[in-house]
Amino acid sequence: MEENFPLAWSLTIGTLLLIVFLVKLLKDRRERVDGRTSKLPPGRRGWPLLGDSINWISSVASSHPPRFVEEQVKRYGRIFSCSLFGKWTIVSADSTFNRFIMQNEGKLFQSSYPKSFRDLVGKNGVITVQGEQQRKLHGIASNMMRLEKLKLHFLTDIQMVMLQTLNNFQNNQVILLQDVCRKVAIHLMVNQLLGTSSESEINEMAKLFSNFVDGCLSVPIRIPGSAFHTAMQARETIINKINKKIEFMKRKQPATESGSNGVLGRLIEEESLPDEAIADFIINLLFAGNETTAKTMLFAVYFLTQSPKALNQLMEEQDKLRSATSDDPVMLTWEDYKSMAFTQCVIDETLRLGGIAIWLMREAKVEVQYEDFIIPKGCFVVPFLSAVHLDETLYKGALNFNPWRWMDPENQEKRNWRSSPFYTPFGGGARFCPGSELARLQIALFLHYFVTQYRWTQIKEDRMSFFPSARLVNGFQIRINKRADEVSVSMH
Ligand code: HEM
Repeated sequence: MEENFPLAWSLTIGTLLLIVFLVKLLKDRRERVDGRTSKLPPGRRGWPLLGDSINWISSVASSHPPRFVEEQVKRYGRIFSCSLFGKWTIVSADSTFNRFIMQNEGKLFQSSYPKSFRDLVGKNGVITVQGEQQRKLHGIASNMMRLEKLKLHFLTDIQMVMLQTLNNFQNNQVILLQDVCRKVAIHLMVNQLLGTSSESEINEMAKLFSNFVDGCLSVPIRIPGSAFHTAMQARETIINKINKKIEFMKRKQPATESGSNGVLGRLIEEESLPDEAIADFIINLLFAGNETTAKTMLFAVYFLTQSPKALNQLMEEQDKLRSATSDDPVMLTWEDYKSMAFTQCVIDETLRLGGIAIWLMREAKVEVQYEDFIIPKGCFVVPFLSAVHLDETLYKGALNFNPWRWMDPENQEKRNWRSSPFYTPFGGGARFCPGSELARLQIALFLHYFVTQYRWTQIKEDRMSFFPSARLVNGFQIRINKRADEVSVSMH
């Protein structure tokens, strides 16, 4: 017994030392984590595992998406932290920090999407690639859709599509405007990207594309029948179609008629991208440009319907551009487009209030110090654009549709959507929307052909919802009448 005494002592002391060491290790770790946490922007953890995910979803699904963000801003300030979908997230309603995040794309932050989304839109597309590859593809996209190209290639084609898709409504016909806008937008995209104008081909693409988009917003389960599975199949079919077009275009002589082969044709002629990168490039543009443009068209008509004064002023401006001698629509010129001052205000106000891109998804690439905060590497970072757009201190009567605000000389600098930190409907920095000018042209021409040809009345009350994507809950049903007929009725 006595012989074993020193051994027992050493074991006890050893165990005690080990316990002390482990406790210290844990304490140190906790202190380190707490030390860092205290440098995160203030915020809360919410429920275990869930964090604030449910609050977040129910808020962005409501008719006022920044609600949750506004509540947290009141408690913690414009930059706060919370736990979303199992991850620490820094959310910003601060225009200066939002700009900092966007300007540092690829350096301190990078865009971040779930794998299922990357599988769908393609790993070679501009939306999902990073670094040098992103800069290259972004440059090509910006070049394809710059102003000179719009004048040369897009202006007439867009109007042909408008005449084709908006000409066939009967008097007293009831239409669901979101379906019409979706159809117009997909016609525009397919026509301009692939150079296709055959009605049957466009309709087939529209169906495939609608399946594809629904899958991007669905639960990513790949079992037959699920929205995600259907979307992956649609993606494959679309890619096959694009590849066949590439083959065909490469075999025949370069197009002589301007714009007849769409962006795809010009891409093959002017750039040197491998075929699989071309197909993903086109599918990325289709994805980024279709729903966004369709929603803006829809919301513009929705807001105008609620604001007869704005609608009358817009009609007046657009009627001046119609032929004085004939009821038939005339093709507008670039000068006509440039003269639509009030229409541009309507578009800006729709983008501000309608919140087409409500927030952006980013991830810290490295540990980032901003003011007194330290954002750990890998943390989600969400610049919440629409919280700035709906900030009452920046926009008086922020929740009202007021296109005249953009005519106020005080707002001219704020309005510059390329550089203003207060108005960023097209994002900013290295991922600034390369289709912004094209989208504005499409929306202005849509409004022209819609308001100069038709009058409408809303049938049902509606409300807006933003999740899974911005939409009108009951559907924006309107009864439509041809204006030419109205004029002749009132004349007799
Ligand atoms: C009203 C319509 C539109 C809105 C509000 C809009 C908005 C945006 C925003 C906010 C971004 C930045 C995303 C980010 O930083 O993560 C973006 C990126 C992009 N947009 Fe648009 N967009 C519109 C129309 C279009 C159109 C018509 C096209 C092309 C046909 C297009 C192509 C793209 C592409 C390719 C990107 C990704 C750029 C990159 O990641 O480098 N967009 N858009």
